[in-house]
Amino acid sequence: MNLQNDLILRTARGEKTERTPVWLMRQAGRILPEYRKVRAKTGGFKELVETPELACEVTIQPVDILGVDAAIIFSDILVIPEAMGLPYQMVESKGPWFEKTIKNAQDIENLKIAQGDDLQYVLEAIKLTKNELNGRVPLIGFAGAPWTIFAYMIEGGGSKTFSKAKKFFYTYPKESHLLLQKITDSTINYLKAQIIAGADMLQIFDSWAGILSPDQYKEFALPYINQICNAANEVPVTVFAKGAFFVRKEMGKLNCRTIGLDWNMDPVESRALIGEDKTLQGNLDPCVLYADFSTIKKETEKMLRNFGAHKHIANLGHGVYPDINPDNVKCFIDTVKNFKH
Ligand code: CP3
Repeated sequence: MNLQNDLILRTARGEKTERTPVWLMRQAGRILPEYRKVRAKTGGFKELVETPELACEVTIQPVDILGVDAAIIFSDILVIPEAMGLPYQMVESKGPWFEKTIKNAQDIENLKIAQGDDLQYVLEAIKLTKNELNGRVPLIGFAGAPWTIFAYMIEGGGSKTFSKAKKFFYTYPKESHLLLQKITDSTINYLKAQIIAGADMLQIFDSWAGILSPDQYKEFALPYINQICNAANEVPVTVFAKGAFFVRKEMGKLNCRTIGLDWNMDPVESRALIGEDKTLQGNLDPCVLYADFSTIKKETEKMLRNFGAHKHIANLGHGVYPDINPDNVKCFIDTVKNFKH
């Protein structure tokens, strides 16, 4: 199907475009009253994720309401641990919780490698959404990076330090690699199935990258991301490693098109470290969206000038916070769309 707006795909491929494309991490859900209305009709977050018609509806909401240049499929990174044998729950106002966690080699042995069709509900949601979008904007598929998924599988939920997960590296180094490989194989199967279902581009979220040391990141994270980039490369891939300022040079060597930056990473310095080839994505501090319109406009324009006219996808430096006013989000998006370099 021909896309009416393929700005983000052309930018990801490194082409010069008429303006900078824009979308937001976590744009589906959270901030929109229209999302909360759909969610209130269901038994909760998981039901929404597992019901393709509803996932499709909330995926398209930000395209209609905010005017973003891409949709991202409504799902979660935690569907992979579940498909491998560790079901999760999303506890209201607390976050994810796993009843079973990984404690030893036997637990790793018991995990299965997920196949694409184990996550049929996501694939179905992608197909429905592609149909419903009818070529208006591209659809982004996604998965968690192996280290971030590993961290949830060991901790059983969120954590400030992820010290249990890091302890596993030191107590079970060989088994850690086995688990990371199983997650990687599952993720590759899953992402390839997303491409076949219709995802136009992919993003890999390494949300807890910044909690590792540079040496740990190079040993336990990057090689697995690299495998994913090499295997699922039929569409442009974005790697977003939150907090991983210390491996930007290495990120520049990945076989992907776009590197996501958080707000701690200076655009000019990042370009110098990553090199000229990649497209960069980001990186406004999401807290700027608590400010008044003129501050949002000023800060957004500053960001756009710092990245330059090409090879930049505008976004926040991490997901939008749930209590941000959608009008402020709209101000950010409109500022990008109206900006002339
Ligand atoms: O709009 C989008 O970005 C698409 C949907 C999406 C969700 N989760 C829906 C969601 C995406 C891309 C994710 C990815 C995800 N999930 C990440 C990586 C991105 C990041 O923020 O670093 C992570 C770490 C998770 C795990 C997760 N899911 C947590 C820790 C939580 C609870 C806290 C929170 O952020 O709300 C979730 C729940 C979740 N995932 C919600 C949504 C819309 C909120 C659930 C609700 O509606 O109550």
